[in-house]
Amino acid sequence: MRHRRSYSSSVSADSTKRPAHPETARVFFALWPPDEIAGRLAAVAVDFSQAAGGRPTRRETIHLTLAFLGDIAVERLPELQRLAGEVDGAAFDLTLGRFGIWQHNRLFWAGCASPPLLLDLAGTLSKRLLEAGFAAADTKRPFAPHVTLVRKLARLDVALPAMHALTFRCEAFVLVRSRLSDKGSAYEVLARFPLAASGC
Ligand code: 2AM
Repeated sequence: MRHRRSYSSSVSADSTKRPAHPETARVFFALWPPDEIAGRLAAVAVDFSQAAGGRPTRRETIHLTLAFLGDIAVERLPELQRLAGEVDGAAFDLTLGRFGIWQHNRLFWAGCASPPLLLDLAGTLSKRLLEAGFAAADTKRPFAPHVTLVRKLARLDVALPAMHALTFRCEAFVLVRSRLSDKGSAYEVLARFPLAASGC
């Protein structure tokens, strides 16, 4: 049975004043690694970008995207949060065990095996988003869990660094607002959705 869990949020549900051109927010759902893991990944990103060029992801923005929505009307944020709060996900361990490069979009990334609970979470979330009429920007792409470490690589032929597996517990997922600027993306966590305790 689906039940509603509590979540923490910084979004106001007041939509009484509706402008003619609604303000939009660029949003996505993600897993946020603990600070220590993010720090290690950020250090790898800086090292790799020194050899291969490109823009390393900053420690504070390191994440794994579950579902990217793109621009949505700000007034739909409370609905989005309600929907995510109704997703029955369970906590799991995630191990980042390899590095890779995607040539087509010039990304250097850290990847993981896909534990069933991760696939369940991403799949359920995307399904609920589609059912609610949120046209997720990347629904046609198969889910390829990864943490982007460097964007806009200048060189694609640099040897990948050795990977020492990094494992962390995912006990929540988050809704994030992204604001783009010439300095890169600034991310604001709008809400956090706990995952139920599990043995996996
Ligand atoms: P990426 O790291 O592989 O670029 C915020 O932009 C996050 O959403 C990024 O982690 C990005 O993945 C992801 N994302 C997924 N689909 C996207 C899209 N169509 N446009 C921009 N970002 C997207």
